[in-house]
Amino acid sequence: MPAILFVCLGNICRSPMAEGVMNQLLRQNNIQNQVIDSAATLANHVGERPFSKTIAVCEKYGVKLNHFARKIQESDYQEFDFIFTMDNRIHKTVISLKPESCKSQIFLFREFDPLHNGDLETPDPYFGDIDDFENVYQICLRTCNEIIHKFL
Ligand code: 4NP
Repeated sequence: MPAILFVCLGNICRSPMAEGVMNQLLRQNNIQNQVIDSAATLANHVGERPFSKTIAVCEKYGVKLNHFARKIQESDYQEFDFIFTMDNRIHKTVISLKPESCKSQIFLFREFDPLHNGDLETPDPYFGDIDDFENVYQICLRTCNEIIHKFL
């Protein structure tokens, strides 16, 4: 089973939401023992639980989040088969931190959103309202479903 890592800036909004949605979809599809995790490119929120609005939207859909924010580290590039990045800036950072020996295939997450309409960025909701978090949830749902059908 391929191991999957989602990466955003703070690891308190977009990537833990993608992790939670993916875990729920895997359970619904009876796929077990899949390694799913998320990480930040910034250290600012390391050790924190997901942001309050992330938790609120996830609770609305019965998605449980058991994550504490952490920063991406060198070993992730060996341990994860896929790394999905949330926007262009994060993608560039993740590529720039890539060690010579790298097992991971690295993609922009929304490449697999069937409704991306050419916009491959998952918008940063941190300073937005609950509707912005709802929008990220819908992106995560569509995109994680597609990733399951394409890769798992
Ligand atoms: P995330 O959102 O990258 O989706 O977790 C953010 C969280 C924190 C900050 C920016 C974006 N920040 O600037 O602290």
